[in-house]
Amino acid sequence: MKHFFIIAILVVAFTFLLHTGLTDIGLLPKQASLQAVEIDKLFNVHIWLISVLFSLIIVTLVYSLIVFRRKKGESGDGAYIVGNNRLEILWTMIPFFLVLYLAYLGAQSLGIIRQVDTTAMVVHVTAGQWFWKFEYQDSGVTSSTLYLPVGRQVDLQMTSLDVIHSFWVPEFRVKQDLVPGQTTELRITPDLIGTYHVRCAELCGTRHAYMEAPVYVVSPQDFYSWIASQASTVSQDPVQRGQLLAQQNGCSNCHSVSGSAGIGPTWQHLYESQVSLADGSTVTADADYLRNSIMTPNLQIVKGYYPNVMPDFSSVLKQTEVEDIIAYIQSLK
Ligand code: CUA
Repeated sequence: MKHFFIIAILVVAFTFLLHTGLTDIGLLPKQASLQAVEIDKLFNVHIWLISVLFSLIIVTLVYSLIVFRRKKGESGDGAYIVGNNRLEILWTMIPFFLVLYLAYLGAQSLGIIRQVDTTAMVVHVTAGQWFWKFEYQDSGVTSSTLYLPVGRQVDLQMTSLDVIHSFWVPEFRVKQDLVPGQTTELRITPDLIGTYHVRCAELCGTRHAYMEAPVYVVSPQDFYSWIASQASTVSQDPVQRGQLLAQQNGCSNCHSVSGSAGIGPTWQHLYESQVSLADGSTVTADADYLRNSIMTPNLQIVKGYYPNVMPDFSSVLKQTEVEDIIAYIQSLK
């Protein structure tokens, strides 16, 4: 009985020590959303469980090694023990109720995290290989960076052009896949002004690791002045509009304008040049060719770029936007 008592005290002491240590080394990034608070409560429960289990096992093990080691002159066998029903019941029932309790906590947190705020700001998110595009429903502003006003829930309506991607800002904790042909939803209420990054959390091809976009959480005033500045910068010049569209839609991630080869062919001197295709034929890169390459990229694949990885933009770009991008490519002749 004396040994149980000593081990119990050691386990409790070691548990608190370990929990303090694990909490203090900063395992988790900054907490920057209301949803993060709920997720971190769950993490805290798990850190407690980890601390208890680790202490229970290690303290008992080390204590036994030291106190019950074979003493000088001892030569007999240890006691022969056949089962212990009470212990078996105990170590089955404790984890059983623990798992039920964790399921209850998980369901409760999920409910809180997915709570709908009717004043939420809707942002449509489109992901593709390999870019993020954000479209603000109320103002029609499109951007490749995500600006969010602090303290207001944002309702991300998300879809993918090609393969599965996953929206993840570690400081917001929550994560959601973007699936082609479906719209998935993620709600976040940022509550800390700062600069973060959305990173893709689903392996999606060659440039998966670089599929990042900046996320700025700013004051409501700063947010509205940013929206106003974005809305007023729509140029009268199709070439300038095309250049902006190429950035916003991720074109420039794969197509250089400097002549260097990227994931896709360069746009420098492309217009009206002779392009060799993978099937051995040659075409002139006129406006029709460029339009088809944007809308049905699988049909004419440039030599050296087979198999095609370019997403189909026919559901993303408006006809006028395609013409603007073509105007931009023409200007790079
Ligand atoms: Cu998109 Cu990984």
